[in-house]
Amino acid sequence: MTFAIAGSLIACSTNKTTGDANYQVIPLPFEIITSEGQPFILSSDTKVVYPEGNDLMARNAEFLGDYLNLPVITSTPSDDKNIELALGLESENKEAYRLEVNENKITITGATEAGVFYGIQTLRKSTALKNSITTFAPVTINDAPRFGYRGVMLDVARHYEPVAFVKKFIDLLALHNMNRFHWHLTEDQGWRVEIKQYPKLTELGSIRNETVIGKNTGEYDGKPHGGFYTQEEIKEIVAYAQERYITTIPEIDLPGHMLAALKGYPEYGCTGGPYEVATTWGVFDDVLCAGNEETYTFLENILTEVMEMFPSEYIHIGGDEVPKVRWEECPKCQARIKELGIKGDAKHNKEHYLQSYLTARIEKFLNEHGRRIIGWDEILEGELAPNATVMSWRGMGGGIEAAQLGHDVIMTPTTNAYFDYYQTANTEHEPFAIGGYLPIEKVYSFEPAPDLLTPEQKSHILGAQANLWTEYIPTGEHAEYMLLPRMAAMSEVQWTAAEKKNYDNFLQRLPQLTNLYEKLGYNFATHVYDVQANLQPNFQTNALDVEFSTLSNSDIYYTLDGSEPTTSSIKYDGKFNVKEDGEIKAAAFSAGKINSKVFSEKLLTSKSSYKPITLLTEPAKDYGYNGAALLVDGLYGGSNYKTGRWIGFQGSDLVVVIDLLQPTEISKVDFNTNVVTGDWIFDAEEVIIESSNDNERFETVTSETGINVKDEQWQDVVSHNFTFDAVTARYFKITIKTLDKMPEWHSGSGRKAFLFVDEIALN
Ligand code: ACM
Ligand code: ZN
Repeated sequence: MTFAIAGSLIACSTNKTTGDANYQVIPLPFEIITSEGQPFILSSDTKVVYPEGNDLMARNAEFLGDYLNLPVITSTPSDDKNIELALGLESENKEAYRLEVNENKITITGATEAGVFYGIQTLRKSTALKNSITTFAPVTINDAPRFGYRGVMLDVARHYEPVAFVKKFIDLLALHNMNRFHWHLTEDQGWRVEIKQYPKLTELGSIRNETVIGKNTGEYDGKPHGGFYTQEEIKEIVAYAQERYITTIPEIDLPGHMLAALKGYPEYGCTGGPYEVATTWGVFDDVLCAGNEETYTFLENILTEVMEMFPSEYIHIGGDEVPKVRWEECPKCQARIKELGIKGDAKHNKEHYLQSYLTARIEKFLNEHGRRIIGWDEILEGELAPNATVMSWRGMGGGIEAAQLGHDVIMTPTTNAYFDYYQTANTEHEPFAIGGYLPIEKVYSFEPAPDLLTPEQKSHILGAQANLWTEYIPTGEHAEYMLLPRMAAMSEVQWTAAEKKNYDNFLQRLPQLTNLYEKLGYNFATHVYDVQANLQPNFQTNALDVEFSTLSNSDIYYTLDGSEPTTSSIKYDGKFNVKEDGEIKAAAFSAGKINSKVFSEKLLTSKSSYKPITLLTEPAKDYGYNGAALLVDGLYGGSNYKTGRWIGFQGSDLVVVIDLLQPTEISKVDFNTNVVTGDWIFDAEEVIIESSNDNERFETVTSETGINVKDEQWQDVVSHNFTFDAVTARYFKITIKTLDKMPEWHSGSGRKAFLFVDEIALN
């Protein structure tokens, strides 16, 4: 960052000066320096002025003219009372701009035309809160992005999206100052890009006969799904993005995720087929044959046409989720391994190195044509292709390793960047999603360049990206709902200097942007405007503290008996507590009308609710939350184990002592476990319940071993109920043991399983 003005001059408030425009936009600019003086007034004479002879600046001027409904002229030097676009800002950052407003004019000066474009976006967003903004307070905004790579990936292969939606999506990238459109064009379930030399790729590969209903139900909708982009359409979209300073990076995912290609060209698979375009989701064993020389020709011919359509220096070659089972059996693949002298080692087997060989060959081919590759982090398994950029999705680890090896990296970990995940814990009213839990605050908290990297290594982190996979997202409207407003949070991860990021401040600035979403006709999620509840057990009062908040300037009314809140219900005026069973409901109201979803939460208390609890063991990293208090808060977790209502353990058991404060008669202990063996979460291995009156000598009340051992994957919320002859004691120790070694049949065989529990009820 090369701006000369010291940080102490930064003004964080726009209230001091007059003007309707609000410069506190998203992503937050680097510096907003307000000054005294009369505002600039937009009038019927105001024009957008650009320097003569620069087509890009003319296009920039048209964008601004369209956004603010102003005429565009070219004139040098320009007249006062206009909005002037200019080049010539001195900055090392090519995307930097300065926006200056005084009584006489507004000037946007860019280091390049792209910088001017971002200045235009800032000016446009500053007017979004009201319908007609006419006054702009004096200001100087100095701005430049933190990262050079600011992307979102759109998967159009699981569900095809028409050209019109792809353009609407690109408009969203522009609105959020993003500059990379990663376009995931090929998959097992559909090939979406026309390749003239191989017409069957789209003739046969773009259509699947039907689609699985829900998640692995075995039932199908019976409806063919298809669609692809002609080369003309692709070029039109690439140009549309380019006008908005967005580079379109195509992804041809290879050598896995290739069933749709193999449908028309089975000769490039190991078994020769026949193959079908996939009608379910997942990872499929049939991949391209890496031992067949013809496969390389096939890929090179495809990529030659791809390079003609996409001027991007980067071509994404996928590389994720490539099962090796066909290669292990295939005579051609095994002959190639032998011929190359490939050997497995302790870290990777020889088929991994065969994938590295294939990737390196494709990289060499693209490098020879002046292009570079990006691959998903699986390309680190084996030997990383010499010039590859790594897209780290299975967490940050792959990206960290690649940066340490001196490779460029784009961070897009599932934990912070997978927008196909649910954005709220209460999924009952959400459109069906793949799973997961990625609320907007988790997106916002993402740090793509962690401090364990040296400054040199950090310089390899080119930027960050969000990914939208569309297995469960059939329409553009639904895609918008998953993207917005999480894209707003991602845009600050990508653009805003880390030290200037602040989530509460971001939330204050968000309504201005969502207003613009609304005006532009986007479908966005509104969870941030709902009533937020903070529910915490209080061990002094032995009750549940309840705090509500809402982003809007509304009143909150609530009920405790499950009835729908109205303006006749209890008006919220600060923290209160509850200790009885019931259902809390709350909603925000303005002018007597409800303007939020109804928040609701059931409370099911027991003799252990809100009683002091001590955790004697360590929960698993990332799943400890506020500790054992959540086990006695009267709140249950539901089916999603990631929402913070389930405490997780791995490698240590759950051992707690609950202090009932006085000798209490107990004859029943209940708790739930959340089992998802596919995610390494198993049921309890053993349960021991003990009692004590001095918290020193404990006597066993009851115990059980060998619980729910199965020899297949399963998932369920399991209710554990222990009844026994009544015991009167003050302290109860509950031990729930985790499975020390996952069974033989499991992919994590021999490793320690997780255990998740949401509540321990003593009665
Ligand atoms: C991926 O999510 N398979 C890259
Ligand atoms: Zn093969």
